[in-house]
Amino acid sequence: MDYVQSPLDLVGTNAPEGPVAIARPHRVEAAGKWFLDHFPGQVFYAAKANPSPWALDALWKAGVRGFDVASEAEVRLIAERFGPEAKLAFMHPVKSRRAISRAYFDYGVRTFVLDTAEELEKILAETGFARDLSLIVRLAVSNEGSSLPLAAKFGVDPLAAPDLLRLARAATEELMGISFHVGSQCMRPGAYRQAMMDANRAIVRAGVVVDVVDVGGGFPAIYPGMRPPALREYMQVIGSTFEDMFVAQNAQLWAEPGRALVAEAGSIVARVDLRKGDALYLNDGAYGNLFDAAHVKWPFPVRLLRHVESRAKLAPFRFYGPTCDSLDAAPGPFLLPADIAEGDLIEIGMLGAYGVAMGTRFNGFGDTLDVQSADSPWPSLYEAVPSVVRHAAQSRVTNLAAVRSNKRKR
Ligand SMILES: Cc1ncc(COP(=O)(O)O)c(C=O)c1O
Repeated sequence: MDYVQSPLDLVGTNAPEGPVAIARPHRVEAAGKWFLDHFPGQVFYAAKANPSPWALDALWKAGVRGFDVASEAEVRLIAERFGPEAKLAFMHPVKSRRAISRAYFDYGVRTFVLDTAEELEKILAETGFARDLSLIVRLAVSNEGSSLPLAAKFGVDPLAAPDLLRLARAATEELMGISFHVGSQCMRPGAYRQAMMDANRAIVRAGVVVDVVDVGGGFPAIYPGMRPPALREYMQVIGSTFEDMFVAQNAQLWAEPGRALVAEAGSIVARVDLRKGDALYLNDGAYGNLFDAAHVKWPFPVRLLRHVESRAKLAPFRFYGPTCDSLDAAPGPFLLPADIAEGDLIEIGMLGAYGVAMGTRFNGFGDTLDVQSADSPWPSLYEAVPSVVRHAAQSRVTNLAAVRSNKRKR
């Protein structure tokens, strides 16, 4: 990957046709270390948030060894990159039979989540009725307090949970646990307590010994208009509630953070291809790296990249992406200098999570170039900026044509 001190270094260069994904591994490393130091249990990074090699390697460097994987391809990606030292948990509640069997037999995965008796039967059948499985029952919990609810699709109803917990308990001599997801970008630490208490009720009703409480993902990042409480508060609530639960004496506490580990570490540099009033037509959009800006309508932070700062007032803009689909639009409003014009580069921040991970090839677009940057421009939930920031920059990009040709060679 090529390096810049800051995305400003891309201005005036022979910029690539497509968008540039800015990677800041030092921010991922800082987040990974912080989670390992402060989460009172084991951390499984939800690889779906950003499976880019630079992000995975930064977490590995930080010491993260657990990975929440959701597909056969994610299992393979992590297993082949890190080998048997990586601990994989297959946390998608609905898996294909082939994915289960390949995960178990080819990649050594032993931890599987389920939210129905049917899925449990599939897992047992496809692993040859293995007795060394760790089985985690996913409970449906309230997603109140999350900015991106995930409640509708997965999770066993609390009333049906005790039966499923008993079935899972009977099916394994290894770990049996309970998990949930409070919804992504959870703005209320108390939501974890509420969900853990719901899990506790199901455990008590089931009358089984539970070895794992997995609080899932949902840990937030900072976006405009969404400044969450300090992450320490989440850790305190989870740690103290765990103490109150009726679980095995040596029960383990797990979490599957995605967004919080990578959001700050990525941004997108997009080019303005046309301006029509307050509408900016960009070379990236809903089918590229801006899915959440378009579909979830989040107001991601933006800055205009110019060597000489614009003195124009900030004005609200909306974005259109490069495809022909009229859904390829992000309403914002994105505040940018009023004199923004065709050819300008914009940096759209906080896209390390669910940014490049969501891109498609629709309409022939989708080529995104990765460039590593040494700066840390967006607000951080992690207090201390680690020393790696100071020596992250290794060389400057002066000609992006060279960058492009390097990419083709890989
Ligand atoms: C099972 C599971 N775990 C963890 C995550 C990561 O969630 P977040 O990025 O909100 O931390 C997700 C996200 O969809 C998920 O489905």
